[in-house]
Amino acid sequence: MDLISEITALRAQVACWRLNGKKIALVPTMGNLHDGHLKLVAEAQLRGDRCVVTIFVNPLQFGEGEDFDSYPRTLDEDAEKLSQAGVDLLFAPAVEMVYPAGQAGQSQIEVPLISDILCGASRPGHFVGVATVVAKLFNFVQPDIALFGEKDFQQLLVIRRMTRDLCFPIEIVGVATDRETDGLARSSRNGYLTEDERQLAPALYAVLNAVAEKLQAGEDDLADVESSAINTLKEIGFELDYFTIRRVADLELPQQDDVELVILAAAYLGRARLIDNLTFTL
Ligand code: PAJ
Repeated sequence: MDLISEITALRAQVACWRLNGKKIALVPTMGNLHDGHLKLVAEAQLRGDRCVVTIFVNPLQFGEGEDFDSYPRTLDEDAEKLSQAGVDLLFAPAVEMVYPAGQAGQSQIEVPLISDILCGASRPGHFVGVATVVAKLFNFVQPDIALFGEKDFQQLLVIRRMTRDLCFPIEIVGVATDRETDGLARSSRNGYLTEDERQLAPALYAVLNAVAEKLQAGEDDLADVESSAINTLKEIGFELDYFTIRRVADLELPQQDDVELVILAAAYLGRARLIDNLTFTL
């Protein structure tokens, strides 16, 4: 596996593959890789001829007081995992390579409306940071396809819209959430959980499932279902950011005839902000 930190070297390698007719698949990450990330890699390898992974902890998507400084940086272990997995190229640039003129004057990509709700409401500027860095990574690598996890459901929608609106000739592939055996969605931030919190954490996914079952069984008072789920989670010890039932297409509130729904939740357990979601059909 090539480990590259310069954009010029990255472009030269990718151009060479492209000249040889290779289909290039991109998996953007912030590192501290777990099996969920490796699932994206496996899917990328199935769908493309060459797999490029990026590791970049993007300062632009972290708000003030968030965990940018303490976000786990484990490049050596990550590179080893990716090399074992047969990844062709790991691009791990420094902040100055991605933001050569600094972050303050950086042109930004804003995907309106969808970026302002849910995680975007609690983390102002977060999705501008995500969309901007992903657009840059798309431009650096110019892949044929790019893969993102459904675990970050809203992020996946933001990226799909940006790709459509800016006419990137890139196919966006969503990959199902990879979970621990007890149901907890794998996440780099699970490392922030204490042992006790780790025991409680799977309740989030359990409650998502219980809510989906209720709705599928015909319960139609969404507000009531949401508030009882919120109470259950609070009693367990979660501090809720949001717990909401939305329609899949645009994350707006469901209308009478909507049948493709998603339950989305974000909650703190101690220091860890956990997010999860479950899509289902009525
Ligand atoms: P990061 O949190 O490192 O996640 C990288 C990719 O892995 C994202 O597409 C995320 O949805 C996916 N992922 C994380 N946990 C997963 C799981 N349990 N199952 C399936 N996929 C999972 O998301 C980011 O980084 C950044 O915002 C990024 C897109 C790289 C832009 O900076």
